[in-house]
Amino acid sequence: MSKIRVAIDGPVSSGKSSAGSRAAFLLNYRFIDTGVMYRAVAYKIKTQNIPLEKWEAAAKTTTFDWIGEPSKPTLSIDGIVIKDSLFSPEISSFTSKVAASPEIRKTLVSFQREMAKNGGIVMVGRDIGTVVLPDAELKIFLTASLDTRVKRRYEELIQKKNNISIEELKKEVSERDKRDSTRKDSPLQIAEDGIEIDSTHLTLEQVAEMIVKKTEEKEK
Ligand code: DC
Repeated sequence: MSKIRVAIDGPVSSGKSSAGSRAAFLLNYRFIDTGVMYRAVAYKIKTQNIPLEKWEAAAKTTTFDWIGEPSKPTLSIDGIVIKDSLFSPEISSFTSKVAASPEIRKTLVSFQREMAKNGGIVMVGRDIGTVVLPDAELKIFLTASLDTRVKRRYEELIQKKNNISIEELKKEVSERDKRDSTRKDSPLQIAEDGIEIDSTHLTLEQVAEMIVKKTEEKEK
């Protein structure tokens, strides 16, 4: 039985990270949330006021280390762990702009391919099944209704002590989805051989179990 590569893509708060991490835990796989890598680069650019012409160099010289429990690792960039600040609405919105840069994408995609080369990995993002790992053995496209996703994101942000109204959040999520799906380089889209799972009426555990089952079928 060989461990495979599981690619999970989907819009904001479709449940990719929670279900992906839980599935990775159940499968004894590694979990990588590529959104956190884009967020970390955006955070670095913003806090260090890096001008546009130096974005590519900034991404290339960033060191990414995933530390801790393999199915729920924490990202350390340039030796520092930045946690909750990566998820503020301001950084979320800026990340979606930074992620539209082809130079930044090229750099992060090569790091991501390197991490996945030995299999046994659940990787989540927007372009994993289409661009990063087009030959992944299993490709999931996770969706949920806009209202459900906004509600999930709201609960997440409240826990992380970010203050935002549901209305503002709905606007932010819709704008981010639109930008991520319509950009020229690697827009969010289902892979030709992707399997769509609508998580609107499913619990995290149900989605994770579906992913585990499909992975085990492919491992055989
Ligand atoms: O998954 P997330 O919401 O944490 O991702 C943050 C942003 O990064 C999102 O707006 C789109 C971008 N992103 C991307 O373009 N490609 C990926 N593989 C992962 C995230």
